Amino acid sequence: MSKSKKVSTNFIPKVWRLLAPFKKDFYRILAITALFETIRLGGPYLFGKILDLLVRTKGILSLETALWVVGGLAGVRFLSILIDYITDYVIIKLLINIETHMSTRAFAKLLELSLDYHEKVHTGTKINIVNRGVDKLSQLVESYVFEFQPVVIQLTVTSILMILTSWTIGIIFTFSIFPFIFITFKIYQSTSLLRKRRHDAYEDSSDEIGDAITNITVVKAFAQETRENRSFGSIWGLIESISFTEVRRHLFTGFGRSILMEGFYAGMLVLGLFEIKAGRLTVGSLVFLITLTERAYSHIYRLGRIYERVMDAKEPVDRFTSLFSKSSSIKQAENPIKVEIEGQIAFRHVTFAYSKRRVLRNVTLTIPAGSFVALVGRSGSGKSTIAKLLSRYYDPTLGQIVLDGKYDLRNLDLDTYRAQTSVVFQDSPVPNRRIWEVISYSAGKKTFASVEKRVLHAAALAHAHEFILELDRGYQTLIGERGVKLSGGQRQRLAIARALFAEPKVLIMDEPTSHLDTMSEALIQKALEEMSREHSMTKIIIAHRLSTVQHADQIFVMERGRVVERGTHKKLLENGGVYADIVHQSELKP
Ligand SMILES: Nc1ncnc2c1ncn2[C@@H]1O[C@H](COP(=O)(O)OP(=O)(O)OP(=O)(O)O)[C@@H](O)[C@H]1O
Ligand SMILES: [Mg+2]
Repeated sequence: MSKSKKVSTNFIPKVWRLLAPFKKDFYRILAITALFETIRLGGPYLFGKILDLLVRTKGILSLETALWVVGGLAGVRFLSILIDYITDYVIIKLLINIETHMSTRAFAKLLELSLDYHEKVHTGTKINIVNRGVDKLSQLVESYVFEFQPVVIQLTVTSILMILTSWTIGIIFTFSIFPFIFITFKIYQSTSLLRKRRHDAYEDSSDEIGDAITNITVVKAFAQETRENRSFGSIWGLIESISFTEVRRHLFTGFGRSILMEGFYAGMLVLGLFEIKAGRLTVGSLVFLITLTERAYSHIYRLGRIYERVMDAKEPVDRFTSLFSKSSSIKQAENPIKVEIEGQIAFRHVTFAYSKRRVLRNVTLTIPAGSFVALVGRSGSGKSTIAKLLSRYYDPTLGQIVLDGKYDLRNLDLDTYRAQTSVVFQDSPVPNRRIWEVISYSAGKKTFASVEKRVLHAAALAHAHEFILELDRGYQTLIGERGVKLSGGQRQRLAIARALFAEPKVLIMDEPTSHLDTMSEALIQKALEEMSREHSMTKIIIAHRLSTVQHADQIFVMERGRVVERGTHKKLLENGGVYADIVHQSELKP
């Protein structure tokens, strides 16, 4: 209970901070709305005055007076329409601006956040947070500017006008507003827990869709459609039953609230009749008051709906705003150093844990610039983690990574550094673009003609040119989401071509050729050697294949997060340690 209160008191300032760039627009809209709502009340006021005039003159008006009356009413209505038009324009423009701004900011934020966030949060959830967040936020703003603000202004002006016209009826009216707001507030408070559970269930439902669809091949392969359907159905069953409970409570209390309001309304009418009888109120004024009351009550109902919207938007908007309060764990240094690196890399007492469990322990190693080193070790020993630290997806928990003997990796400018390194990941993700765009990804947005030569060169080095030419549209072929239209080996060769295209100073490859036949692998090896001769390049290759690692200048053998052996293939074999074991058990395939 206290927790939900705390959230609700934080909620408005949090949203307001998010909308800070649009403050001026909000003030402008407030001013226009205040003017509009006041002018609009001129209609019933004039109407009341006309009635009184008719009563006084027993229905006979001079032509001049009649013209004044009609002119006045027409004037008020024309002004209303004009201001209405202006208000709509300003508000709709604001809403469109907010949607654009929030969507682009959220996307930029997602790109900015480091891998620890992305590896922790499910893709479906992230998409849901952004889509529902933007959607609900703009609904919230819409309700605020189109409904909340006009209603509050109208209620205030109405109360003042009513008290000025008849203080007794005015006061009853003013006091009748409070129980309404109180009951409405209570209903929503009592259902807040249900609402939260419903939103959790929405998120579970997106997770399920995301998970089942991204792993559709697994679902089909093991014929688990029924099981997935059932699990998805049970989530929606829960959403359904929670929604019904919520609706029942709302309708029931809403019923009581309506009866109460009718009571107040009748009371005011009776009091008005007495006041007329006592000569304290004219018929025109009573009509004016009753018109105002009816209008005001119908607006208070709108206030109830707005509250409902706010509460409905609260969860998704909360989740959306908290996305912006997250910060990337990889921070750019205050005065980042932009240099061309030589390519010497040193790990100095590097210890690393993804969360609590240490996966690298006190790793110290030096890789000379331009050399070729291999990392070997059993599955889970920490090889890919070394590659991730080198790409600065994560920073060491303890110790440091030093470039060229003088720069702590954390002090280098991230973009400049990453532009000089290339990584081929173990699972080589390739985005859904044309082949040439995948290969030239590091060049930014370019035309094919401007990068064609380099793309062809990189594809040839990666031994990918032949298979690309065999595709329907060659380099222009769209390769489908996550590269599903390619074979595993083709995807790897494409990833290698993309890495080589960037002509990096440091090339990190995490089992880049595991899907390739030995022949293609040997050709790629040769191409890499040639490339290193053209320009100096430090190569760090993680591999399970003897053919890949045996020519390395230095091999590091990892076990349980430690480097346990180092040396050349020959020397390590002679030593007869872990490496020799691995080779003999042919975990390193020949
Ligand atoms: N994102 C992550 N969050 C938490 N733990 C992780 C994460 N990635 C890897 N690990 C853990 O860190 C350890 C080292 O993983 P790593 O991927 O570096 O192993 P590896 O040597 O590359 O293995 P393989 O040869 O199977 O690719 C493993 O125990 C793994 O469970
Ligand atoms: Mg790995």
